[in-house]
Parts: sequence; structure tokens; C-alpha cells
Amino acid sequence: MGLLDGKFVVLGVSGGIAAYRACELARLLVKDGAQLQVVLTSAAAEMIGSVTFQALSGRPAEVGQGGSLAVSGMPHIDLGRDADLIIVAPATANSLAKFAAGLADNLLSATVLASTCPVVLAPAMNTRMWENRITQANVSLLNQLERMIFVGPASGSLACGEEGAGRMEDPVFLLEAVRAVLSKNDLEGRKVLVTAGPTREPVDPVRSLTNRSSGKMGYALAAAARRRGAKVVLVSGPTALTPPWGVKLVEVETAAQMAQAVDKNISQCNLVLMAAAVADFKPKTRAKQKIKKGRALGVIELSRTKDILAALGKKKKKPLLVGFAAETGDPVKAARQKLKAKRLDLMVANDVSLPDAGFDVDTNRVHLVDGQASQELPLLSKEEVAERILDRVVKMLPKKRKT
Ligand code: PMT
Repeated sequence: MGLLDGKFVVLGVSGGIAAYRACELARLLVKDGAQLQVVLTSAAAEMIGSVTFQALSGRPAEVGQGGSLAVSGMPHIDLGRDADLIIVAPATANSLAKFAAGLADNLLSATVLASTCPVVLAPAMNTRMWENRITQANVSLLNQLERMIFVGPASGSLACGEEGAGRMEDPVFLLEAVRAVLSKNDLEGRKVLVTAGPTREPVDPVRSLTNRSSGKMGYALAAAARRRGAKVVLVSGPTALTPPWGVKLVEVETAAQMAQAVDKNISQCNLVLMAAAVADFKPKTRAKQKIKKGRALGVIELSRTKDILAALGKKKKKPLLVGFAAETGDPVKAARQKLKAKRLDLMVANDVSLPDAGFDVDTNRVHLVDGQASQELPLLSKEEVAERILDRVVKMLPKKRKT
């Protein structure tokens, strides 16, 4: 099951060198459940064969004026009417100019013109072409239409050997943009702070006390909140993950740094989701030099770290607070104790002794625990768990004041 299950997406590919990266995007869209129709311009088809897209999407890709769909009569009208979303990646200067001018001289431009659904545009071109006033005028014209959503271009080294703005945005980010556009928007206007990953408490310059958190649960929550329209700050301990598209990432290492980053970013926050596995203890002192192996095994004295959530729970004016409980026994009982002790609104309890839940794996089994009851969710991907947590939390948030 993917977040794009049941969605009909048209992927338009125009003729830029970045067309090869559209193959990866097609793969990701299909993997996420989308029914995909690829439409290539003739120039794009000279760069990447339509057979590649056919294999990736499971249906014939259309080229130029369209071929196989033409038998059905009016392919551009059918696609424009049926698509839940169109994404054009790469969108060349030429294609943007056509969309802005309302031209319909190939199947892609005709489909965009005949559609009413959201259109995600991922520009890719030489920097000077992007910065050209004519292209920029086309971009601002398209931007006036709410359903046209630009993602990118990114900056970096370009195929022409120059540096600057003009790279097509990463396919992973484009997938995330598609998911966001098609997602519920029930966190719009809200600020959400998420913590993720482990903390690392140094013993000496090369060793530290840490835990097995990969950050996956917290990153999934940050991505889901962003998709649903929230402004998201993600305070993250060390992980190997790519930060989700559109969130503000604050990287920290120790529990003390995490506490500081939370304090700094908490103002105006409506919701805190504390998925980080914060170390409860840290070495009392940090050796300046590497402790030598030969030294007699000593004792590392520990002191408590600040309990970040408990401190937030004590505040008079506080956002909705959601904690996580990593347990190895009865997760609900322990989670309810923590909920009360830290004065939280909701606890997400996971039994980290199960092989398919908790640390590092891509799935989780959680219980949502409040003061009165608990709800057990089935085994789900961490992305789905994040969505289900937010479904619950959205109902608990105070209604937005009308301005
Ligand atoms: O990152 P993954 O590999 O995807 O794994 C996900 C997870 C197992 C780390 C996650 O689902 C999870 O359970 N996170 C919380 C782990 C934890 O530290 O639980 P705890 O029971 O020790 O702490 C309870 C709550 O207090 C947590 O929300 C924690 O962030 C918070 N806390 C704990 C200690 C501390 N000093 N400050 C805190 O704010």
C-alpha cells in the first residue's frame, strides 16, 4: 500500500538532459501506488526511449502528438479530465513557454491546457535560460494560477558544464511534492516541531553513549506533517537519512543540544511530536584525550540529561504534546505512566523487542495511549503510522481562530 494508491498521475517528460531522471521518478510514483501515464515530447523521446517508461509504468508511453491513446478519440481531453495530478519533469523552457502561452501543439501541452487538476512543474535548463526575463515572465504568469506548483529548480553543476540554478529537483523530493499536493491539508497554518533520531553523549573524542534509533519514525512524521500543510521544524540527532522536502532541519548531537534547539524553535508551535530517543544519561565528564585501551577498566560516571518533554509539560502555555515510549514489557501501562508523569496529551507506545517494530526497521506496531483509553494500530509502515498518528492528533488540536 502506498500513499498514492488509486491516484491517476500523468508524468509529462519534455526534452532536457534531465529526462533520464524522470525514469527514477516514474519508478517511485508507481511504487507508491500511482496509476501512471507517461507522455513524452518528441524531443524527450530522442533522449529516453518510450519503451523504458512503458516498462516502468506498465502501460504504453505516449510520444509527441500521442499514438495509442489517439484511437480513443481525444487523448488530451481524456487525460486532462481523468488525471488527479500532472507532473512535468523535466519542464524545459520551451514547455513552460507553451504552457504559459496556452499552446496545444503536442499531447503534453494540449493535456495541460485541457486539465483542471494540479500541475507540478519541475524546471530543468541552463541557468541563463532559467534567469532569462522571458522564462521568468512565463514562470510568474503560471504562478498566478493556483494549480501550477513549481518545485525547483535546484542549484548545482549543470549538464552544460556551468554552475547555477537549473537542475531538476531530486526525484525523491518530486515524489514528496506530488504526495503533498494530493494529501489532506488539515495542518495548514499550524507549526509542528518534530524530534527524531538518537542523541550521542561523548565519553571521549572518539567514543559516545548512544542508542539504535535510525530517525525513520521521526522523519516519517515530519514528512507527513509537511504534506498536510504544516510548517515543520525537524530537530534531529545524527542519522543517515535525507531530510524530508520542505522542512526546516536543525541538526544536533547531544541531549543538551536537542533541548536547546527545541527551546529555540518552540515559539508559536501548535504541536510537538517527540519521536527522538533521547539519552537519559550522559558521562559526567568528557575526557579531552582518547582513553587508552591499556588503561585499567574504569567506571564511567553518569549524570541525568534534561528531560525535554517533561520540561515542556510543565509550561503553562504549551502546544499539544505527543511523546513516544520505547518499551520492552507491557507498552500501554508504561506509556500511561509516562503520559501522566510528563503531563502529555498523547503517548505513542512501541514494543521495541518485536522484530518488526521500534528501532531501525521500516515498520512499526504502536498503541496510541491517552489518559482514558488506548488504541492498537496494526503492523504498518512508519509512513502509515505517521499518517495515523496525525489523523488522531488533528482531532485533538484546538480549532484555529478565524482571522
Ligand atoms: O528512529 P527509529 O529507528 O525509527 O525508531 C523509532 C523509535 C523506537 C526511536 C521511536 O518510535 C520511539 O519510541 N521514540 C522514543 C524513544 C524513547 O526515548 O522513549 P522513552 O520512553 O525513553 O522516552 C519517553 C519520551 O520522553 C520520548 O518521547 C522521548 O523523546 C522523551 N524524552 C526522553 C528522555 C529525555 N531526556 N528527554 C525526553 O524528552
